[in-house]
Amino acid sequence: MKVFNFNAGPATLPDVVMERAQKEFCDYMGSGCGIMEHSHRHKLFEGVLARANENIRTIMEVPENYDIVYIQGGASMQFAMIPMNLYVPGKAMEFADTGTWSAKAIKEAKLFGETKIIASSKEDKYTYIPDPAKMTPSEDASFFHITSNNTIYGTQYQSFPESKCPMLADMSSDIMSRKLDVSKFGMIYAGAQKNLGPSGMAVVIIRKDLVERTPANVPTMLRYATYTENDSL
Ligand SMILES: Cc1ncc(COP(=O)(O)O)c(C=O)c1O
Repeated sequence: MKVFNFNAGPATLPDVVMERAQKEFCDYMGSGCGIMEHSHRHKLFEGVLARANENIRTIMEVPENYDIVYIQGGASMQFAMIPMNLYVPGKAMEFADTGTWSAKAIKEAKLFGETKIIASSKEDKYTYIPDPAKMTPSEDASFFHITSNNTIYGTQYQSFPESKCPMLADMSSDIMSRKLDVSKFGMIYAGAQKNLGPSGMAVVIIRKDLVERTPANVPTMLRYATYTENDSL
C-alpha cells in the first residue's frame, strides 16, 4: 500500500521519480557505474549539475546577473551565512518577524551585528503577516530579510514589499510554488527538502554584486564566492 506523507518536510514523491532514482543509483545512463560512484568532475555528473541549474533558471526565470549555488547545512546554515557575508558594519540588518523561522534568522544575525525588526506579528502569535505595502526597509540597511511562507503558522506573503536595500527571502516552504519576479530580491534561498529535493542542502540564488560583499575574515567554506567560483563543486 502506498503511504502518503503530508507532513511539512520531506514528502511523497511520484513513483516514476523514485523508480528512476533507484535505477540510476546502480547504473547511471548505461555507464556501468552508479551516480553515487561517479566523480563530481566527470562529464556525466557535470550534466546533472548543468540540468539542475538550467531547470531552476528556466522555471523561476532567474536573470543572468544571479548565480545559483548549492550549499550544505540546509536553510538553517543560511541564517548564519547571510550576516557573515552580507552585514555591512554601521548598517543594520532589517527583518520582518513573521514566525519561528524568521525568529531563528534574527537570532543568528544578532551574533554578527546590529539588527532591526521593522514589522512583526509576534505579539499576535504570528497569526498574520503585517501588510507588506507598509513595510519600509531603510535604503541604507545592510539588507532586509523576509520569510515568504511561514511553515507551522501557514501564513504566506501574497505580495512582496518594495525595498531599496537588497531584499533577501527564505522561501524554504514555497519555492517554485508560484511565479515571482526574482529581480526584486538580492537573494532567495531554500532548504531543498520541502519543495525541491533531498534534505541537508540549500539552494541559493544570489545577485552577483552581493557575492563581492563578504569581509576578508569569513572562512572559505562559509563564503558565497567559494560556491559561485567553483560551480558548487
Ligand atoms: C521557512 C523555513 N525556513 C528554514 C527552515 C529550516 O530548514 P533546514 O532544515 O533546511 O535548515 C525551515 C524548515 O522547516 C522552514 O520551513
